[in-house]
Amino acid sequence: MKSELLYEGKAKKVYQAEGKNGQLVLSYKNDATAFNGGKKDSFEGKGRLNNKISALIFSALSGQGIESHFIESLNETEQLVYQTEIIPLEVVVRNVASGSITKRLGIEEKTQFENPIIEFFYKNDELGDPLINDEHALYLTNATPGEITFIKEKALDINEVLKKLFQSITITLVDFKLEFGRKADGSIILSDEISPDTCRLWDAATGEKLDKDVFRQGTGDLIEVYEEILKRLEAKA
Ligand code: TMP
Ligand code: ASP
Repeated sequence: MKSELLYEGKAKKVYQAEGKNGQLVLSYKNDATAFNGGKKDSFEGKGRLNNKISALIFSALSGQGIESHFIESLNETEQLVYQTEIIPLEVVVRNVASGSITKRLGIEEKTQFENPIIEFFYKNDELGDPLINDEHALYLTNATPGEITFIKEKALDINEVLKKLFQSITITLVDFKLEFGRKADGSIILSDEISPDTCRLWDAATGEKLDKDVFRQGTGDLIEVYEEILKRLEAKA
């Protein structure tokens, strides 16, 4: 199913899909990193969990008319996706204050944002993924002004769908990170993954953190909380 290894990232390997032009195989790894690779570990089962969770989320988005690069799951840890050229932006949407925004802007954790806040970070490990504005994004990527607007609108649409999806399984979608890619035909679609690695997910009843913050902060068992997210999503699907 897969041939040449094209790229290895911190959480996934990307292969050319064998005999399928314009398609890739994403292989989810068990590795976890935080603080731009400053903290590293490996968790048996993480690749399987993120592969499954990401597939369920992309399918839910597709059901609401939001297309992504996701085509199908191939096995426990791999999925087939459309090949895109990733636009080097980490598009973060925040509904509730947590993480970097609390430190950067002195906003108290758990503050609710009536209007979701979108932030762009420049995807560049050497620079530590700095926060940038729209003008920087235009300069640093090949996206046009119309495409930057499209990306922000899409991110807000995705937020609406995901907020409802998680609400229905008693989870608050605090914030999340998206990446977009350009297909061979020039169009821009949602790419990468959506998983507890890339979202903050709090139990709506207890406030318990059910995402990668348990690893970042060393406060819980990563596999246990990712299993809980998968279990709730599967019960709903
Ligand atoms: P932040 O509060 O650290 O800026 O993170 C915002 C959201 O983006 C959070 O849900 C975690 C996610 N995220 C990633 O997916 N990758 C990253 O490299 C970082 C820093 C955050
Ligand atoms: N993904 C980033 C890293 O690998 C940071 C994070 O998710 O906290 O270091």
